[in-house]
Formats: sequence, C-alpha cells, structure tokens
Amino acid sequence: MVGRLEGRIAIVTGKHRRLIAEPLAKGYWIGGGSGFGAGITTKFIQEGAKVLIADLSEENGKKVAQSTGAEFLSADVTKRSDWEALLQKAVDSFGGLDIIVNNAGTTYKNKPTEDVTDDDFDMVFNVNVKSIYLSTNVLLPYFLKNDRPGVFINIASTAGIRPRPGLTWYNASKAAVSNATKTMAVEYGSKKIRFNAVCPVVGSTGLTHLFIGKPDTEENRKAFVSTIPLGRGSTPKDVANACSYLASDEAEFITGVNFEVDGGRCV
Ligand SMILES: NC(=O)c1ccc[n+]([C@@H]2O[C@H](COP(=O)([O-])OP(=O)(O)OC[C@H]3O[C@@H](n4cnc5c(N)ncnc54)[C@H](O)[C@@H]3O)[C@@H](O)[C@H]2O)c1
Repeated sequence: MVGRLEGRIAIVTGKHRRLIAEPLAKGYWIGGGSGFGAGITTKFIQEGAKVLIADLSEENGKKVAQSTGAEFLSADVTKRSDWEALLQKAVDSFGGLDIIVNNAGTTYKNKPTEDVTDDDFDMVFNVNVKSIYLSTNVLLPYFLKNDRPGVFINIASTAGIRPRPGLTWYNASKAAVSNATKTMAVEYGSKKIRFNAVCPVVGSTGLTHLFIGKPDTEENRKAFVSTIPLGRGSTPKDVANACSYLASDEAEFITGVNFEVDGGRCV
C-alpha cells in the first residue's frame, strides 16, 4: 500500500526527548514513550516520507533518527543560520523539501503572572514564535522560487484558544502561532502553500510538569483531565495522526485551520 506521504520530504523540529514522568497505569492518562516530535517523525516515515529531524540535543535527536530511519541535524530553531543549514541539508540529502512541522516549543513553569521574568518571556517568544518567523522567512523563498506547494504545520496549543491561569505568556505565544498561521494561509493560498496549526490539549511529555505547575501526581493530573470530555490527555500518536493528515493530499483544500487535538476541551 502506498503511504499517505510517499516520496514527500519533511523537516520536524523539537528535541524528541523521552518522557520524564511515566504515564500512570490507571487509564485516564495515556502517554507515549516520547515527545510529540518523535511521534510525528515515526508516523511520517510509516507513511512513506523522508524526515530530517532538527534538534538542539545531538544525543536525543540521533537516537530518534537511528530508531526511525530519519536524518538528523543539530539545530537551534531560534537561529536563522540553523534554518538555512536545515534547508541545505534537506536539499543535499533528499533532493528538496515539501513539509515543515514546527514542533519545537517550550514553557516556563506555571506561576503567577507577576512573577514571570524577562528571561521567561523572551524564552517562550523566541522558541515558540520567532522560530515560526524564521522558518517561514528562510523557507518560503525556496517554495516560491521552485514553484513547490509547501505545507507548514505549526504546533500551537489549546492554551492559545482556551487558556488556563498561570501561563499567560506561553498561552499568548501559542495564540500568536495560530494567528500567524491563519495570516500566512490567506497570504500564500494563491501560491498553493498551505499553513495549518495543530492544537493539542495537555499530553504526557517533557513539558507536562511545567504546564501543571505542581508535582506531576495522580491527583494533580486527574484535575487536569477532568476538563477534557474524552477523559484523557493527548498522546504523540494523536498529534502525529493529525499532522499526517494535514501534510497529505487528503488535506489539499485545508488551510488556515486551528486543528484541535483535544478530546473536546475547547468546545
Ligand atoms: N505536552 C503538552 O501538553 C503540549 C500541549 C500542547 C502543545 N504542546 C506543544 O507541543 C510541542 C512539542 O512539545 P512536547 O510536549 O512534545 O515537549 P518536549 O519537551 O518533549 O518537546 C519539545 C522540544 O522542543 C525542543 N526545543 C526547545 N527549544 C528549542 C530550540 N531553540 N531549538 C530546537 N529545539 C528546541 C525542546 O528541547 C523539547 O525537547 C511544543 O510546541 C509544545 O508547546 C505541548
């Protein structure tokens, strides 16, 4: 069977680290064995894509690359020169580029907004928003010059739509991701370049304890999950399935959406 993404070439950003908190065995919280980036890479390769992983950490990125058959390049998504190197690597290794998944993201620990520092603010806006600016600024000229119908998938969050307290500037950075995604969808529609945002609800990854802002205990997770109608957090597989669809030709008429992967949280 031909995969949904057969022959496509993708860059997936994010350190792809393993869970730091194991999922609980009670069934109301289901976690994958890794962050969303590893799930997306695994799914894309299953669907026939060639994937270049972009990761701050050589160790983690290389591990995922080896286990999935992806290529790896160490990159900081807040640096223009690293985006230029990623494009060059995709062209040299695979012969081009079709899909970018801007998955790398970060947060400060949930806390009262008056306690947020300048460093916290700069960190979330650099990693979550400037990375999208740089990826488009560097990669759009490639798609336009080569008349290639590129696909951008930006991992935003339900936090940008239905924010919880204590994460004001993380939430605002994700709202910026969704807004920029919609703006570019309108701007580049005539060039057949699609932009969509994927908005996961809280999942069990390296960032979870920071979102909760409390110890990652059964009781504290239960309180989070009680606000999700389908009764669990998101998994890397949920996010990867959404990305795979949006990257494929099945979604050729879909652009500018905030695709909520949230078990009904944002209803
Ligand atoms: N986990 C959740 O509950 C949740 C919910 C909604 C959205 N998200 C978003 O999903 C995305 C993936 O996060 P995750 O939950 O898999 O966590 P994760 O920590 O496992 O993965 C995110 C990775 O991005 C990497 N990164 C940070 N700064 C970087 C930089 N400058 N250059 C390159 N990589 C960098 C981090 O090292 C990290 O490993 C993020 O954008 C996050 O905001 C997560």
